[in-house]
Amino acid sequence: MGLAQLLTERSLKTKRVTVNAYDIASDTWTLSREITRKSIVPNLWQGRLTLNSQSLDFNRRKSFFIIQPNLQDCNLFVFQNCLNEIVERSVLLENVEFLINNISRGSFIIFADLLYKQNSIVFEAIGKMVNSRYDFEIFQERTLTITSSLRIPRAIAENLLTGKRGLIPRSKTNFMFLALRKGKKIRDNYDDIPF
Ligand SMILES: C[S@@+](CC[C@H](N)C(=O)[O-])C[C@H]1O[C@@H](n2cnc3c(N)ncnc32)[C@H](O)[C@@H]1O
Repeated sequence: MGLAQLLTERSLKTKRVTVNAYDIASDTWTLSREITRKSIVPNLWQGRLTLNSQSLDFNRRKSFFIIQPNLQDCNLFVFQNCLNEIVERSVLLENVEFLINNISRGSFIIFADLLYKQNSIVFEAIGKMVNSRYDFEIFQERTLTITSSLRIPRAIAENLLTGKRGLIPRSKTNFMFLALRKGKKIRDNYDDIPF
């Protein structure tokens, strides 16, 4: 949704976008993807969206090898709202490093997640990983508090988010994000970073 809105506001020339969505339980999101593709995106952007999906375990060693052929053609990689569910942090970081090594120059990686301690630790480790390289720029690292303006539908408030076992609708969401860009390498010795 964010990308669709951005394309309408900033990139009128873009007519087609292909999105590859990865999740360990990608099949359970089929209905949500269909709603996004058929109803939500067309209200925000008039271009042609191809939305592919594949099951992928970020918590398994070398699991990103299988998507390597797709990486060079992508310009934007987004990890959204999933990091704290990935238990083996070292494996996740190995997979992120693989991504960082294999994406093409000029592309972007955005990590956007809830402001949780576990996620801050992952963000810090990724920050260190890219700071030790000569070909990456951290161009934004921020936290954000989003206040919900949505009224919770009665059916949800009465049957799902009832307060039982602490389940209540969020009035505010504390979010954090880290945005990286891969630049050019001109030499191994890196006094200045050309972007
Ligand atoms: C809170 S949901 C968010 C879903 C979606 N990313 C979004 O923002 O709407 C967290 C997602 O992380 C996925 N997940 C959990 N462990 C994972 C793993 N090891 N590899 C890949 N995805 C995982 C879950 O299946 C779930 O869909």
